[in-house]
Amino acid sequence: MVETFDVVIIGGGPAGYACALKAAQLGLRPAVVEARPSLGGTCLNVGCIPSKALLDSSERFAEVKKLAEHGIIATDVQLDLARMLSRKNQVVKELTNGLAGLFRKGKIALFQGHGRLLAPSRVAVTSDGRTRELTAPSIVIATGSEPAAPPAIRLDGIHVVSSTEALSFDSVPPRLVVIGAGYIGLELGSVWARLGSRVTVLEFLPRILPTADAELAALVQASLTRQGLTFQLGTKVTQINVESGRVVVTAEHQGATQQYEADKVLVAVGRRPKTSEVGLEEVGIRTHEKTGKIDVDRRTYLTNVPGVYAIGDVIDGPMLAHKAQIEGEALAEMLAGHAAVVNYNAIPGVVYIWPELASVGLTEEQLKEQGHDYRVGRFPFLANGRAKALGETEGVVKVLTDAKTDRLLGVHIFGPRASDLIAEAVAVMEYSGSGEDLARFCHSHPSLSEALGEAARHAAFGKPLHF
Ligand code: NAI
Repeated sequence: MVETFDVVIIGGGPAGYACALKAAQLGLRPAVVEARPSLGGTCLNVGCIPSKALLDSSERFAEVKKLAEHGIIATDVQLDLARMLSRKNQVVKELTNGLAGLFRKGKIALFQGHGRLLAPSRVAVTSDGRTRELTAPSIVIATGSEPAAPPAIRLDGIHVVSSTEALSFDSVPPRLVVIGAGYIGLELGSVWARLGSRVTVLEFLPRILPTADAELAALVQASLTRQGLTFQLGTKVTQINVESGRVVVTAEHQGATQQYEADKVLVAVGRRPKTSEVGLEEVGIRTHEKTGKIDVDRRTYLTNVPGVYAIGDVIDGPMLAHKAQIEGEALAEMLAGHAAVVNYNAIPGVVYIWPELASVGLTEEQLKEQGHDYRVGRFPFLANGRAKALGETEGVVKVLTDAKTDRLLGVHIFGPRASDLIAEAVAVMEYSGSGEDLARFCHSHPSLSEALGEAARHAAFGKPLHF
């Protein structure tokens, strides 16, 4: 029997589930095909959420050391890793169950199994050897991404692992080598360093966080080094050998071969779009030669095959859950006959280390590359009253504006709760606001957000008020 819907979405991650929820709210009949037993994709199951649960728990463990300066004496502090991991699992369970509840409420049909395109309007769902067929005038591919590994490196899931396994080590590895100083490497490297691992990060490039503003990335590196992480930059990992539980990582640095011994190795060198076994070739859907991402019209998310759309990590752009979600919502609106547009210039990015690094818009390097005439405003958290009271004075806000028009071009925050502070900068950029707008907003006092106003004053008027 073939079941008919208005839209069939392959993948129940942030792109797919958001598309389904919105489509249902707008009166369409969506169906979602999801291979995992729970909704939420990588983000909820083995990505953003469990990593944040562990980051928050390990941060508290690390914070205990800072309590003495607040006049609080905490002695005999111990780590109960099993409980920390089960709390993380509980957080994931509650959120994935919550999504399942929203699906029931929205009467969204959920098919658990592997989805594959048979034709532009037909999807086969295979589960336990049984195949059923769904049909709809619109099919959405939202299959996400999976960890990538260099060809010479084999992930065994025990000693040489991806982020998925690094969220569930059952004991703290005494020596952890992290390959790649990107989002995952720094976040999970931080978790295990806080819990007691000796963490060495090997990075191919001469800097960490290649897409971040270089000035702030350097501050992040110095901060994490103080927290006990070791960085080996310009270091290309060529081989990993596992012998009786002992892992040896071989790397090249300035023409010389180096070896690192470890108990666990986390490979975090990027993710690749998940496009195999979805039936792309059979239906003739075009992918990008180099990145393997599905080619779409960036405004409509339509592939080269009429009726087939793609959103989230499988298409161009940063592999971020909120970017995927906003694309899912926009596509649902368009499928329901409404207008929708995603502003790709105002998508924030956050690295949830401590202090956090959050940014939106262009970096100083990008402005230089584009030959843009720009102004820079900075304000250190050291001069912010709330940061002082919190005892969290590390970091800086950096505001970049157009030198002629004062339009806000980029905001980069390295500091406490930068993930929340960046929202204000996103709003100003979304409305094409200026540095002066950000400077003149009334920021509550005392609050960390005042540092944004001060950095904007620096850019717009040449000086912060507290100078
Ligand atoms: P990434 O692209 O952020 O960083 C990978 C790093 O590995 C780069 O710095 C690269 O130069 C380096 N590298 C590549 N090959 C290497 C080699 N052979 N030896 C040494 N270094 C090498 O990728 P990552 O951290 O794996 O994250 C994947 C994606 O997941 C990111 O694109 C990010 O968007 C997303 N993510 C987002 C998070 C967030 O929003 N907080 C958290 C975690 C992941």
